[in-house]
Amino acid sequence: MATINNFLCLSLFLIIITQGMAAKCYPGRVTIYQKPTGRRIHHKTEWKVSVANECACMQLNVRLSCAGFHSLRFLSPSVLSKSGNLCIINNNNPISPFSTFNFTYVWDHQFVFAPVSSQEACS
Ligand SMILES: *[C@@H]1O[C@H](CO)[C@@H](O)[C@H](O)[C@H]1NC(C)=O
Repeated sequence: MATINNFLCLSLFLIIITQGMAAKCYPGRVTIYQKPTGRRIHHKTEWKVSVANECACMQLNVRLSCAGFHSLRFLSPSVLSKSGNLCIINNNNPISPFSTFNFTYVWDHQFVFAPVSSQEACS
């Protein structure tokens, strides 16, 4: 009896552990950090955006909400391109596990980007 109980305990424990690990990436963990760089350009603030992949898998096709986003600085489409209300970053290329993709823009005020979607590729 004791061994069966131990077995059940161990199974439950393993299920919790493995689900916890699988849940790491769900729903595509992308976090956006943003801060002023301290530089001013034409009386506007330069902002640095870090799109952090906080997952153990690569994340690609990362989409951010960016309706109304403007930048005085030209952003290369390989860095950020607008598609309707969404911004495509890094030309859809993957962001490595636990790495960041950074870019800067210049505007009066901070623009709040929100992660909308991404795809994960686990190896
Ligand atoms: C992006 O910026 C963060 C914070 O400043 C830095 O830690 C990180 O190394 C940068 N990533 C790249 C790829 O330059």
